[in-house]
Amino acid sequence: MSPATYATGWFVVATVDELPPRKVLPLRYFGQRLVAFRGDGGAVSVLDAHCPHLGADLGVGGKVVEDSIRCPFHAWRFGADGACVDIPYCASGKIPPRARVRAWPARERNGLVFVWHDTWGRAPSYEIPEIPEHGDPAWTPWTMSLMTIRTAPREIIENVADRAHFPRVHNTEIESFENVFTAHMGIQRSSGVAYPRGGGEDRFALTATYFGPAYQVTEMESFLPNRLINAHTPIDEHSLHLRFGVMLKKMASDEKMARYAQGYTDNLQKGFGEDVQIWENKAWRDRPMLCDGDGAIGALRKWYRQFYLPPGGEEQGG
Ligand code: FES
Ligand SMILES: [Fe+2]
Repeated sequence: MSPATYATGWFVVATVDELPPRKVLPLRYFGQRLVAFRGDGGAVSVLDAHCPHLGADLGVGGKVVEDSIRCPFHAWRFGADGACVDIPYCASGKIPPRARVRAWPARERNGLVFVWHDTWGRAPSYEIPEIPEHGDPAWTPWTMSLMTIRTAPREIIENVADRAHFPRVHNTEIESFENVFTAHMGIQRSSGVAYPRGGGEDRFALTATYFGPAYQVTEMESFLPNRLINAHTPIDEHSLHLRFGVMLKKMASDEKMARYAQGYTDNLQKGFGEDVQIWENKAWRDRPMLCDGDGAIGALRKWYRQFYLPPGGEEQGG
């Protein structure tokens, strides 16, 4: 079996705020259409979007009825597990046993909605940990942003180990930098001085951890201690959504903190913008020419490959 097109793991598909009660949210990820909805019981479900009956998109005109979603075309209803639970006009009352859509494993964590993607349908092999500061009144809520970028996930991931781009692209002086790759986690620990484009300087020390292939949490100590989220989700083979969120420890009035958070987000957006220009125009090098200041790019790639392996691929080694 050849490697998967899209990685195996948890991917952010929405923020919790985008899915209030009874909301239907159409999604386009992994080259297909999905639908997310929140039933009356409060849980979020994510299903394949196309109705098994005659193929309408449940996410476009579908309605939540109790804990099911009703198709806009002939009103068949599908439950959280994807099984058809009602056909309003079927004379025999018999629901065809194969009338179901695929249900994707979904989780709400840290104010975000995740789906589990696996090409071979394997169950989740790890969980997304809670961020203790999320919901803590001593911290601001997330300020979230979303960008659509014409690139591949492996380019985003490579930032973890690419020590040499920080001073060039991000105007950051790196003093210490190390990577640890363990199981599904890819960790970067670094410290240095950031020189924001707006002026000034900010000493920082951070630990940035990928939990799986697409969701990274950064714990940063700096002028304002903060938590960052950086998550990407492939739309198709050519583009992806990059979401990032900022949470700051409250050290001043709410109004001031909101301004700081926005300032941080703007800065980050600028920072990612600098990466984006590179990402959208670069070529992928399978065998890059590296020198000894480059960091653990080889180790990173080896770690990342695990997320594309077919069942049994683990033993054959990545
Ligand atoms: S297409 Fe969905 S009920 Fe007919
Ligand atoms: Fe970068």
